[in-house]
Amino acid sequence: MVSSLISRQLALSLHKNLWLSAPARCRYVSKAAAKTQADFDYDGPSMKTSVPGPRSQELTKQLGEMQNVGAVNFFCNYEESRGNYLVDVDGNRMLDLYTQISSIPIGYNHPALLKLMANPNNLSTFVNRPALGILPPENFPDRLAESLLSVAPSGMTRVQTMACGSCSNENAFKSMFIWYKNKERGHSTPSNEDLSTCMINQVPGCPDLSILSFMGSFHGRTMGCLATTHSKAIHKLDIPSFDWPIAPFPRLQYPLEEFSRENAQEESRCLEEVEDLIVKWRQKGKPVAGIVVEPIQAEGGDNHASPDFFRSLRKITRKHGCAFHVDEVQTGGGTTGKFWAHEHWGLEDPADIVSFSKKLLTGGYFQRDELQANEPYRIFNTWMGDPSKNLFLSEVLNVIRRENLLEEVTRSGKALLNGLYELQAQYPGILSRARGQGTFCAVDISWAHHQNSICKTYHSKCVILGGCGERSIRFRPALIFKEYHAQIFLNIFSDVLAQLK
Ligand SMILES: Cc1ncc(COP(=O)(O)O)c(C=O)c1O
Repeated sequence: MVSSLISRQLALSLHKNLWLSAPARCRYVSKAAAKTQADFDYDGPSMKTSVPGPRSQELTKQLGEMQNVGAVNFFCNYEESRGNYLVDVDGNRMLDLYTQISSIPIGYNHPALLKLMANPNNLSTFVNRPALGILPPENFPDRLAESLLSVAPSGMTRVQTMACGSCSNENAFKSMFIWYKNKERGHSTPSNEDLSTCMINQVPGCPDLSILSFMGSFHGRTMGCLATTHSKAIHKLDIPSFDWPIAPFPRLQYPLEEFSRENAQEESRCLEEVEDLIVKWRQKGKPVAGIVVEPIQAEGGDNHASPDFFRSLRKITRKHGCAFHVDEVQTGGGTTGKFWAHEHWGLEDPADIVSFSKKLLTGGYFQRDELQANEPYRIFNTWMGDPSKNLFLSEVLNVIRRENLLEEVTRSGKALLNGLYELQAQYPGILSRARGQGTFCAVDISWAHHQNSICKTYHSKCVILGGCGERSIRFRPALIFKEYHAQIFLNIFSDVLAQLK
């Protein structure tokens, strides 16, 4: 497998070259970027065993007696992990470019977050987890205002917190359906027939509405979300689903400058298909209530589309009366160089719903006023989020602002992407389609053409990477990833490629 090959080579490279602790010997760039990281970060990777090491293997066996451990890479020592480095239970310290599936905003054990934990005034927020929908704490409105609402996407003043990404999308879909039905009825009062039929899963109470999604998308693994997830069969196999329309997502050719005409044609083709599907599903009696789309299809292979594509998509939703849901679960929180990836589009007419989780620490979604259900308990669950996560998020946002992390992301993302461009020029038989926005970057590995499935994690012994799509490596470092971290990675990667050539 390419993944394990790369892992092994990365490890060999590290074992043979203990230069990582001596940045002056970098060979990818003539000069390593100066280190200015706050001193809670480590200097570089450091390996003691192969990965998974003996202790990890022991624990995997132990856990395997309790649950499926097929996806476990290794066990971690979170006490010792710091900044951009994840330490495992065998004492290996790895540069983390995957950050727990893109969910660590400012690195491990950030001092600002540890300080929050040590503040006795915050104790009750950590100890008592309320049922927020019925018994919120006194400071909850203020907490929301200083955390989530301070980064609300344009056009949105309302936010609903949830626990995870899937749960956020699942409830966002419900909001779109409720909104659509109210629009159709002209009011929000259901008929007696609506009320009785919904209890037995029949129309009109459970209407035949649909959500349009894109091939290659990932919106979660719960039942409703899964009907809009089309990245890998393993997620969907054996689970009943809805007959909802699936449009093609543009497959852009790289380098973009060379294929602008072809890419524009490809995007037009996909947009035409979207409109056709909306019309077809209306004729089938399953009108499209909303369209859900990721700004960059992540799990499905880091597939990008142009701002033009998304602006046109927004216009199509308006034309056909569907809601426009932008799933920023993976792209949100600054990783593209803007806090929300969809800010890159320059939308004149903002989205109706923007969902989030991961780097935001809490799940949830922003919505336009008209999308909010009027009645209580229609969008509801026991916890509806967790106020302690809002507390952390406020501090994360302070750090992002204080340390200008969005600018850092733009800088380090440029260094990473330029490095990938250079390596792909050097190794055209191995690497292709380097692409990215901020540090949200990816590159394809061509051997994968000969592999059936390499959609698994590319973690290695000194650098932790993730895979996506059929043959891509995705980079998802924390926002504190600096240019010199990019150089450390590129040096290692360059060595690996040289050995594989
Ligand atoms: C774009 C997107 N939406 C939704 C989800 C689901 O989030 P969760 O795994 O928290 O349920 C993910 C998870 O990777 C995602 O990337």
